[in-house]
Amino acid sequence: MHAHAMKNYSILISILLFLSLNSFIQAQRFEYKIGFSQCVSDDAWRETMEMEMEIELSLYPDFELIKTDAEGNSQQQIKDVMYLISEGIDLLIISPNESDPLTPIVQEVFSSGIPVIVIDRQISSDSWTAYIGADNYEIGLQAGQYAGSILNGNGKIIEITGLEGSSPAIARHDGFHIAISNYPGIEIIAVATGKWRWADGKQVMDSLMGIGLIPDLVFSHNDFMAAGAYEAALEHEEESNFYFIGIDGLPGEEGGIQYVIDGKLNATLLYPTGGDKAIDIARKVLLGLPFDRNNILQTLLIDDKNARSLKLQNEQLALMQDKIQRQRDIAGSYLKQITNLRLGTFLISGFSFLILLLIFFIVRAYREKQRANRELEIQKRRIEKQNKKLKKISMKLEIATQQKLRFFTNISHEFRTPLTLMTGPIESLMLRDDLPEDVHRQFGMMYRNALRLLRLINQILDFRKLENDKMQLNAGKYDIVKFVRSIKETFDTLAEKNDILFEFIPKKFSLYVWFDIDKLDKVMFNLLSNAFKFTNESGKITIRLSECNKGDGAELKPFAEISVSDNGRGMSEQHVKRIFDRFYQIEQQRAENYFPGTGLGLSLSKGFIELHSGRIEVQSKKDTGTTFSVFLPMGEEHLKEKDKILTNEFSNYPDPHSSNLISEELQYFPTISEADTDENGIVLKDGDKEHLVLIVDDNADLLQYMKDSLVNEYDILTAKDGREAWEMVLHDLPDLVISDVMMPLMDGLELTQQIKKDVKTCHIPVILLTAKISLENKLEGLAAGADSYIPKPFNERHLMLRVRKLLEMKMRVNEYYKENLSFEEVESPVTRMNQRFLDRVAKYIEDHIHNNEFGVEELSIEMGMSRVHLYRKIKQITSMSVSEFMGTVKLKHAKLLIRKGEMSISEVAYASGFSNPSYFAKCFRKQFNQSPSDYLAQFSED
Ligand code: FRU
Repeated sequence: MHAHAMKNYSILISILLFLSLNSFIQAQRFEYKIGFSQCVSDDAWRETMEMEMEIELSLYPDFELIKTDAEGNSQQQIKDVMYLISEGIDLLIISPNESDPLTPIVQEVFSSGIPVIVIDRQISSDSWTAYIGADNYEIGLQAGQYAGSILNGNGKIIEITGLEGSSPAIARHDGFHIAISNYPGIEIIAVATGKWRWADGKQVMDSLMGIGLIPDLVFSHNDFMAAGAYEAALEHEEESNFYFIGIDGLPGEEGGIQYVIDGKLNATLLYPTGGDKAIDIARKVLLGLPFDRNNILQTLLIDDKNARSLKLQNEQLALMQDKIQRQRDIAGSYLKQITNLRLGTFLISGFSFLILLLIFFIVRAYREKQRANRELEIQKRRIEKQNKKLKKISMKLEIATQQKLRFFTNISHEFRTPLTLMTGPIESLMLRDDLPEDVHRQFGMMYRNALRLLRLINQILDFRKLENDKMQLNAGKYDIVKFVRSIKETFDTLAEKNDILFEFIPKKFSLYVWFDIDKLDKVMFNLLSNAFKFTNESGKITIRLSECNKGDGAELKPFAEISVSDNGRGMSEQHVKRIFDRFYQIEQQRAENYFPGTGLGLSLSKGFIELHSGRIEVQSKKDTGTTFSVFLPMGEEHLKEKDKILTNEFSNYPDPHSSNLISEELQYFPTISEADTDENGIVLKDGDKEHLVLIVDDNADLLQYMKDSLVNEYDILTAKDGREAWEMVLHDLPDLVISDVMMPLMDGLELTQQIKKDVKTCHIPVILLTAKISLENKLEGLAAGADSYIPKPFNERHLMLRVRKLLEMKMRVNEYYKENLSFEEVESPVTRMNQRFLDRVAKYIEDHIHNNEFGVEELSIEMGMSRVHLYRKIKQITSMSVSEFMGTVKLKHAKLLIRKGEMSISEVAYASGFSNPSYFAKCFRKQFNQSPSDYLAQFSED
C-alpha cells in the first residue's frame, strides 16, 4: 500500500475517534443553566436555603446552578442579574434584597422571555413566573397573637424589624400590629429597624434600653436579631425577665429551636427557606411540566412545648439527610467508575478497531506487494526475452555490417587498380610538351582527381585494418627532425601561393625516435592539410618539435612532441570533443573544404599514433586557432619485436614525396589565386562577347571546367561563394548566373533569392547546378526563383544549350518591351517585376513631362539608382538607352494628347516636354511611321 494512502487512512481514523470521544464527553455537559441571584449569604438561614437547593439539584445532573451574592446591596444585585443574563442562563431565581430597586431589572428579564422565580422576598410587581415563600403577614399575625396571650393582654413591647423596604419586614410588621391592636392593654413602645443581623439586634436593644426603655416583650423579625437583643438585655439587667419572640426556627446549635430550648427565646416562628422547592419549580418550568405559580410554605409556632420534639425530628432528619447524602456520594462514585469504565471500554473498542484496520491495511499492502512482485517477475522475464531477441538481432546486424564492410573493402581494393591504371597513363601524357595549354590543364585536373580518389580509398582500407587490429606497425629509428622538415618543405609552395607564414621550429638539431614512416607521414599530411584548410590567406602555420616528459600521475616518461598550430578559424568546444570520432565532420568545415574528406583523417591519425603507444591531443579556440600535438614515446621498450623493422636509417630512409599520394595531389592542387584572375578574383576573357556569364562554385576544378566550356561563347566571371557572387552581380550586372547550391558563406538558393528580389537584378536568369537531385531540392531551387535547375553530374552540351536558350528568351522579352511599353499580362513573376519597374520609370517621366530640365541624371535620382545601373537595367529589359526610353514615353504621351483633340500639334509638343515642335514631329514620325498632323487628321475624320 502507498505510504500516503496509509497516512490518509490514519487521519480518517483519528477524526472518527475524536468525534466519538467528543460526543461521549458532550453527554456529560449540562443542558440547563439556572442563575440564582442571592441578596445576602452570610447567615445560617441563607446557608440552609442554598444547601437545600444543592441537595435538590444533585437529583438533576443536567441542571447547572450559577450563584451570585449581592452582600445586602441592591445596586450590586442589579449588576449580578445582568451578569447572569450575559452568561446565557435559561432561568433566573432571585431573592431580592429590597423590593422597589430590583423590580425594573426583574421585569426586564421576565419580559425578555427568561422565566423568573422569586423566592423569600418579593418585588413590587408580579412580573415573575413563580413565587416561593411563607406568608409573612400570617407569621406577623401569629407572633402578635402569641405575644398577646403570654402577656395576658397587658404590657410593653419593643419591635425590631428587618431591612426597611424588604417585603418580609413590611408584611411581618403589618401582621403583628393587627394582632396587637386586639389587646388594648398592650403598648408597642418602640419600633426599631435592623438589617437582619445578630449585631443589629444587639445594638438596637442596647440603645433602647440605654434610654430607659424597658419592655415586657421583644418581638424581633428574625431569630438572629432576637438573640442579639437578648444578649444586650442580659448586659443591661442582671436577670432578664421579659419575653423574646423571633422568626425562622432554624435547627442546629445556633438555630431558633435551640434558643427556645435554651430559654433565650420564648418562641420562634418557623420560616422555611424553600430552596428545594425553588429548584423543583425551576425544573418543571424548564421542562414544560405543570407547576404552581404561588407556592406558600407552611409555618409553625415553636415554643417550649414542641421545641424539643422538633429538635429531635430535625436531628433525625439531618441524620437521614446525611445517610442519603452518603449514599448519593457512593452512587456518585459508582457513577464515576461506570463513566470511567464506559470511557475505557470505548477507548479499548476504538483501539481494537484501529488495530483491526491496521491489520487490514497491512494484509492488503502485503498482498499488493506480492502482486507487484509477480508483475515485476513477469516483466523481468519479458525483458530478458526481449534482450535475447535484441542480442540476436544485433548479432545478425553485426554480421550484416561486417559483410557489407567486407564487400566495401573488396570494392575499394577493386577501385585501386583501375585508378592506378588511369594515373599512370595521364602522368606520362602530361610529360609531353606538344600539348596545347588547355589540354595540359585538363590532364592535370584528371590526374589530381584520380589521386584524390586513390587517397580516399586508401584511407578506407587503412581504417578497416585498424578496426580489425590488422594494422602492422613497421617502426624504425629515424631522425624525426629531418623527417618533419622534409614534409614541411612539401607544403612550402602552397604556403607561398596562399601567402601564409609557414614555419618549422625544432628545439633540437636532431632527435632519434622509433616510428613508422608511412603512418607518421599520413598523420603529418593530415594535420598540415587541415591547418591549410582552415587558415585564411595571410595567416600563420607553425610546426614545433621538442622533447618533453609526460605521463599519468607520478610516472613521467620522455616523449617527442610535434605540434602543428594555425591561427585559423578554430573550433567550438563541442567540436573539439568529437574531433577524433570516426566519420565526424563539422558541418561548416565540410562546406568550405578544399580537400573534401570523409571525416576519417583525424580518426585514422589517432589510430596510427596509438599504434606507436603515443598520443594525439588538440587545443582549439573559436576564431583564434587550433593546435594539434602528437606525442611519440622515446626509446623502444614500448615496442614488440614484430613492430620493428630492420633498417639502415640513412640508406633506407624513404622519400615521403614519392610515397604519399597527398603530396602528389598537393603539387597539382590549384589555389584560388592560381587561376588567371584579376585582383577581385574576376575572370574577364576578351570582353568582346555579347553576353557576360557569372559562374559560382566552391570547387576550383569544377569552376575551371565550366569556364573552359563556356569561354569561347561568353565573357566569363567566376566566384567561389554566394557572397562574392552577389557583389559581382551588383557590380557587373551579368546577363546570366550559373551557381552551385551548396557553398560556404552564402549558398546558391540564397544567392538566387537575393538576385530575384532586388529590382536592379531580378531580370537576370539563374541556373542552379547541384548534386542534390531530389525533387524537393529542385522545388526549393525553383521556389527561390531559379530559371533552371540542372543536376550534377551534368552534360556539358546540356548546360551550353540551357545557357543559350535562356539568353535568347531574355532577348525576346527585351524586344517585346521595346515594342510595347505597357503591356498587360506577362507570365513570370520576374518579368512582372520588370514591368512594374518600367511602369515606375514611365510614371516619373510623365510626372515631369513639362520640365525640359528633367533628364537621365534627375531620373536616376528619383529611382534611387546610379546612372550606370539605371542605364544597364533599362537596356537589359528594353534594349533602349535611358534617353531613348524617355523619348518613347513622351511620344506615347503626345499621341494620347493628339487623340483627345484639345490641342494644336505644337501645343502637344510643348506639353510633352519637347522644346522644338519640328524636332517633335521628326521624332514622332520615326517612332510611329506617321507625322503628328496625319495622326490628328485620322482622328478628326472619324
Ligand atoms: C436571612 C433572613 C431571615 C429572615 C429572612 C427574611 O437572611 O434574615 O432570618 O427570615 O432573611 O428575608
